[in-house]
This record gives sequence, structure tokens and C-alpha cells, in this order.
Amino acid sequence: MRTVLITGCSSGIGLATARHFAARGWRVFAGARSPETATDLSTAAAELGLHIVRVDVTDDASVAACVAEVIAAAGSIDALVNNAGIGGGGPVELASLDRGHTTFETNYFGPVRMMKAVLPHMRAQGSGAIVNISSLAGRVCLAGHGHYAASKWALEAITECVASEVASFGIRVALIEPGVVLTPIFAKSSTPLTAYAPYEAAIRRLWKLFGKQLEKPTQPADVAQAIEHAIETNEPRLRYLVGADARTLTAGRGSVSDEQWVEAQAHRDDDRFYEAMERLMGAGVFR
Ligand SMILES: NC(=O)c1ccc[n+]([C@@H]2O[C@H](COP(=O)([O-])OP(=O)(O)OC[C@H]3O[C@@H](n4cnc5c(N)ncnc54)[C@H](OP(=O)(O)O)[C@@H]3O)[C@@H](O)[C@H]2O)c1
Repeated sequence: MRTVLITGCSSGIGLATARHFAARGWRVFAGARSPETATDLSTAAAELGLHIVRVDVTDDASVAACVAEVIAAAGSIDALVNNAGIGGGGPVELASLDRGHTTFETNYFGPVRMMKAVLPHMRAQGSGAIVNISSLAGRVCLAGHGHYAASKWALEAITECVASEVASFGIRVALIEPGVVLTPIFAKSSTPLTAYAPYEAAIRRLWKLFGKQLEKPTQPADVAQAIEHAIETNEPRLRYLVGADARTLTAGRGSVSDEQWVEAQAHRDDDRFYEAMERLMGAGVFR
């Protein structure tokens, strides 16, 4: 039986991925930083035989203890899914550096810590797969999304470097880049728009994008499917966009110059902004 370790399984994509792999016969170690409050995960564990492991990806000792626990119990780790992450961003002028540090500790250094802990085992066994959950925001920069986007761009860069470093040891590394996915991540951000003055327009447009996509969202199970594909396919790729919005926005961004992209977002009037985006990507992305 193959073993997968997944971080951030208390809700959303992590929980769906733990369920997905267990249903396909994997031995699943589902990471949670507070297992005692992860009630949906406990229910899934009882139903599907998941092993819950405590791990806070911002904490070196916690990561080391988690990986040691999995190796002791299972003998090996065949796949690692770095899913734990936090949202949020805000205009750069207003976002606190503390929040920026926390975002990077979680979304960037978290996966790096996990990879550093797991790679010696995978290298010794001469096989393994690592899947890092990035985001559409790791490909496309939108105003108001600063630290989150930066953390995912950093994750994209290091993942490409690591993939190149470990391929010759038989280890596969991939990035999953979902668009908007229906998970609790959005409910965790409740700052009122007025707190973003004078950058309300950027945040309003971001929430408009999220709201529009959440009308017919990509589901966490769709992301789980893409993660499994990245691990199992005989024709592995480095990057996998998940969701029509991720594909449309990435293609739209790729069709214009950097300067045109900045200019398109600089319209003060919302309608002119939406019209500029619709010229790039068609209707249905923002409204
Ligand atoms: N939802 C989307 O639209 C979307 C789109 C693209 C990419 N993503 C990415 O997908 C991943 C999962 O997000 P989600 O949407 O499923 O959100 P979610 O439901 O909020 O899940 C995030 C998970 O990460 C955990 N986590 C946060 N900080 C942690 C830490 N320091 N150590 C360990 N676990 C920690 C959370 O645990 P707690 O319950 O303890 O907070 C939770 O289990 C993230 O990397 C996110 O950036 C999401």
C-alpha cells in the first residue's frame, strides 16, 4: 500500500484530497495543525481509516516530528502534498509586514520545510512524488493580492528549481494551480472594504472575481483529482492549471505585454476595468 502525506486537511482541498486518496487505496496521513478541532477530518478518518498527524508547517520541530511519525508508522512516504496555506493579501501599502511574514511562513517556507524533511527519505528510496498547491495567483498578478500572490510565485520558483534538482533521483515534483475553489478560505477573510481606502477598487474587483467564479465553482474534489493525476500519469508535467477560470485568466494575461496588463488594471472606473478584462478574456470572469 502506498503512503501519502497531505498537509492542511482540516477543511477544503486538503480534506477532499485525503478522502480521494483513501478511496483509491492509499494509506493516508492527513496533517492538521489542531487535530482536536478538526471535526470534519475526524469524521472522515473514522469513515475511511485516515491517520491524522499533527503538523504546523510554520514550525521546524512540528514538521520534523510529523515526518518521523509517518516514517515510523509506514516505513516510507511515496507522495507528499503540500496543501496547507492561508489566503489574504491586501494592497501592499496597507498590508502589515507581520501578515506578509505569516503568509510566507505558511505558503512558501511551509512547503520548503516539508520538502527538506521528506526529500532525504525519497532520495534514499529512489522514488517519490511531491505536489505543491500553488494557485492561479502564482501565475497572474492582480492588484490587491500582494503577499498571497508573492508567496505563490515564490513557491512556483522553488518548485521548478527542486524539480530540476531531484528528477535524476527518481523524484517527481509538480505544481497544482487552481482558480477559485469553493472552500472555507474565503470566509476566513472578513475585513470590510472601507478598511482598504484608498484602494477599495482593487479589493472590490478581486471579490467580484471570487463571487462570479463561486457562482459555478471548481470543487475541492476536482483539485484532488488533478493531484492524483500529477502523481500517477505516465506523462508528468510541472504545472497543472485547474478550473476554467485559471485557464482563461492565465491565457488572457499571456496575451498582453506587462505594460498592457498594468494599464488594464489602472482604470479608475470599474466598468472600464471590466470592459478591458473582457477584451482580454471574454465575459464571465469578473461579471
Ligand atoms: N480555495 C481556493 O480558491 C484556492 C485557490 C488556489 C489555491 N488554493 C490553495 O489551496 C490550499 C488549500 O486551501 P483551501 O482553499 O482548501 O483553504 P482552507 O479550507 O482554508 O484550508 C487550508 C488548510 O491549511 C491549514 N493551515 C493553515 N495554516 C497552517 C499551518 N501553519 N500549518 C498547517 N496547516 C495550516 C488550515 O488549517 P486550520 O483549519 O488549522 O486553519 C486548513 O486545513 C492553500 O494552499 C491555498 O492557497 C486555494
